[in-house]
Amino acid sequence: MSDPGLKPPGLKREIGLFGATALGIGAIIGSGIFIVTGIVAGVAGPAMIVSILIAGFIAIFSAMSVSELSVYLPEEGGTYAYAQKLISPFAGFIAGWIWIFSNIFVGAAVSLGFAHYFVTIFPAVPVKLIALVICLLFLAINYLGLRGSVLFNNTLVTLKVLILLFFVAFGLGYFRPGNFLPFSPGGPIGILSGAALIFFAYTGFARVTIMAEEVKKPEYTIPRSIYLALGISTILYLLVSVVAIGLAGAPALAQSGSPLADAIRSTGNSGAVLVISVGAMIATASVLLTTIMGISRIVFSMARNQDLPPLFDRIHPRFRTPHYAIEITGACMIAALILADLTLVVAVSTFAMLIFYFIANIAALKLPVEYRRYPSWIPALGALSCLGLIAFLSKSSWIIGCIGLLIGMVWFVFGRKGALIHSAV
Ligand code: ALA
Repeated sequence: MSDPGLKPPGLKREIGLFGATALGIGAIIGSGIFIVTGIVAGVAGPAMIVSILIAGFIAIFSAMSVSELSVYLPEEGGTYAYAQKLISPFAGFIAGWIWIFSNIFVGAAVSLGFAHYFVTIFPAVPVKLIALVICLLFLAINYLGLRGSVLFNNTLVTLKVLILLFFVAFGLGYFRPGNFLPFSPGGPIGILSGAALIFFAYTGFARVTIMAEEVKKPEYTIPRSIYLALGISTILYLLVSVVAIGLAGAPALAQSGSPLADAIRSTGNSGAVLVISVGAMIATASVLLTTIMGISRIVFSMARNQDLPPLFDRIHPRFRTPHYAIEITGACMIAALILADLTLVVAVSTFAMLIFYFIANIAALKLPVEYRRYPSWIPALGALSCLGLIAFLSKSSWIIGCIGLLIGMVWFVFGRKGALIHSAV
């Protein structure tokens, strides 16, 4: 993570297992656990714990596929590169396109998530205004090419893990088991709709594959770091959601824009509310930083590969960043956070990410036999479960997601120069 905008010339392999895992956790833990748990509590009730487990299992199938692929092709670009090589240039393009689309909505969701916790400390300020300001600030940081370092990311990740552990340890003392009844007011449909929404909380686990060329011993480090990041996040998510329900009950979480702050508020300790609110802002801000950085890398790579207009691989003469890529995707992010509400933004992002992982699983199914680490039923189940989860997302997220896909397809067929059919980046 030596340059937030572009990979520097002469890349050094300096990210080890800890740094790679932190990169994953940095991209995973954000608005999902701090905000979306409230929405999920509304549809699944205390059975949201089952939703979290189901989404975690589905994420693990896709993570196994991505791990296999990363060993086969430890190059920058992740699934954009894998799908291009193993399926077709069209599949690679759609993987890259839908990843960018999804992450524009992730950016909007984490900006809104940040703002919801900001107003627990400064209640007079409008949520959308704060979301707009934080988003513009982080776009500017990426535009100016300020260097994020592995150390900075590791510090943010350690802080957010510690703050979630504090939530669990502190909240346990005030735990009310009666809050778990009725356990599943929404029934199986509620649980599965909750799983579809909370899948958002797991996205980001493959972020390290985008930076494979900066990782030491990538064939060893990348798969392990993906499993570690996903495993640590799943355990934290389960602990935090059990304690949140035990503290406040699902109906109260569902009513809240900042559910973990409101859960801890029920202990009557305002210092603890402040700690959790600051933790949520750190977590969402760190996801926002890596999301904008990831988008600018993929847009730049796709433009360099002639999959996107050449404008997007132009580098700012002074800041050395792909400024048009940051400007256009930033404008889309801002439009999304102004026009849509948080639930819709999360659902659209998840719709697009499930399509992306579907493509990753199909690419894993096409791996040459000698590169397969797992039986082919794993990517097959991964692909099917991604499609299955999509069925439980809202119709409006389908419509917006399909429009996004359609625009990409039209561009691929009619707009793209598309001459370079080689490994992606
Ligand atoms: N998984 C990321 C989050 O929860 C997008 O914020």
